[in-house]
Amino acid sequence: MDSDGDGIGDLNGITSKLEYLKELGVTAAWLSPIFKSPMVDFGYDISDFFDIQPEYGTLEDFRNLIKKANELELKIILDFVPNHSSDENEWFKKSVKREKGYQDYYVWHDGKVNASTGVREPPTNWLQYFRGSAWEWNEERQQYYLHQFAVQQPDLNYRNPDVVAQMKRVLRYWLNEGVSGFRCDALPPLFEVLPDAEGQYPDEVVSGATDDADDRDYLTTTYIENQPETVDMVYQWRTVLDDHKRIYGGNSSVLLIETYSPAWFTMQFYGNRSVNGAHLPFNFNLITVMEKSGLSASNVQEAIDLWLQNMPAGRTANWVLGNHDKRRAASRYGAEFIDAMNMLVMILPGASVTYQGEELGMTDGWISWEDTVDPWGCNSNADIYEQYTRDPERTPFQWTNGTNAGFSTGETTWLPLAADYETINVATESAADHSHLTIYKSLIALRRSSKTLQNGSTKYAVLSDDVFVIKRSLSGANSIFYVCNFGSASITVDLSEFDKTLPSDLVLLIRSMDSIKSEGAGYASKELELAVGEALVLSSE
Ligand code: GLC
Ligand code: MG
Repeated sequence: MDSDGDGIGDLNGITSKLEYLKELGVTAAWLSPIFKSPMVDFGYDISDFFDIQPEYGTLEDFRNLIKKANELELKIILDFVPNHSSDENEWFKKSVKREKGYQDYYVWHDGKVNASTGVREPPTNWLQYFRGSAWEWNEERQQYYLHQFAVQQPDLNYRNPDVVAQMKRVLRYWLNEGVSGFRCDALPPLFEVLPDAEGQYPDEVVSGATDDADDRDYLTTTYIENQPETVDMVYQWRTVLDDHKRIYGGNSSVLLIETYSPAWFTMQFYGNRSVNGAHLPFNFNLITVMEKSGLSASNVQEAIDLWLQNMPAGRTANWVLGNHDKRRAASRYGAEFIDAMNMLVMILPGASVTYQGEELGMTDGWISWEDTVDPWGCNSNADIYEQYTRDPERTPFQWTNGTNAGFSTGETTWLPLAADYETINVATESAADHSHLTIYKSLIALRRSSKTLQNGSTKYAVLSDDVFVIKRSLSGANSIFYVCNFGSASITVDLSEFDKTLPSDLVLLIRSMDSIKSEGAGYASKELELAVGEALVLSSE
């Protein structure tokens, strides 16, 4: 929400809408980076980790936001971007000048001289996420620096203890401002492999995943991602949080980890028997498994198995449908499945995560090449940018069907609106008897009142190839069922194939948008008819 008409969302705008979050029933909100930044990567290029970006507001505005959030008992989580800073950060400027204490703040290297041409070349073939080399020559310092993201996002050097200490200061600084934790950005590239005795790094080999030699996937990432030191660093940050609480009291704060990594790596962030790690490494399986092979009942099962079967004992699961880096859930899964997916993340055990707009069924905007601002898009070209740009999922939040969807009173907004804002928006959906938004609110209300959802055990299966069923049960309480038809034809299923102890009738609690069933009515468990995309939450009593 934009409060000052410049077309850009800001802190006062968020403060003015905290009540909306409260009404939804969510308990905590994560803000993407709000720190001082030249905005090359929309705040993920930080020039001052200890200050607020002026277009978002001031430190005082931030304190107001926290105050209001406390009154409403909402927790605010900030984005912690440890891997890199902006090239406009003082630290980088000092490092370029080799100022004492800052010489090794970033990953610098002479490169190598090509034996046949005599020309100086980057130290390795490593590629950045946003296309092209991960090394950039710096004229002034006469060395290359590493940047796993954009050229303007130099990687901090975590082999330097001063950097490690500095970034812990960042955590403590915002804990002192009353935040309830951090979403830790981009963990895979935090550390790179150590160089050999001559100071040389190894090249990555061609992966075979794509022919596009600028695409990061063109090479493996064996040496530049998922190093063991990265896991240890997260354990150290956890200690910072725990120590802070021990010293100053207050509530516990939380660590969320962004890592698109294989399970063997991701699960280590939770910690182990002797050490605590992050509370929640994000579970992106409902995104990544479907990216590979589409939405189906068996893929939903695979995504869930992949998490629950690998998670260490005694930890909390979590479920994510989308974020600002992925196409909007309603566009990715198909709009007819948005309720089914929102139900999934609410009914499965553990924490559920919503990217703003998923509760409304917001879809991607279409952004022309001329309007493209995301560096990942801008670093490609007019023919292929749509494959890379993340602008479509970042269009303004849709509050109303009025001017700028109620997001801003300005002439224009920082990205154009998505086309569907006249029907998909908070005002219209709140006024309706049955909408994606009312469904979402009922789901949270159920989570918050149901002991079965909070503490019950979980069983799930695929029936008749296309139907996915979950049963949550707790002794002494009613059982809760989730059923969805992910196939392309309507179907009648016998739920007793899945659970012998079922009562003959189940009571309908919540139904997807197009379902013509009635809430409160009973439905025969041995003969449950489901239309395409129909998703239901039912109770045993
Ligand atoms: C994370 C963020 C993404 C950003 C990148 C670099 O993946 O979610 O938006 O571009 O890190 O900080
Ligand atoms: Mg503004």
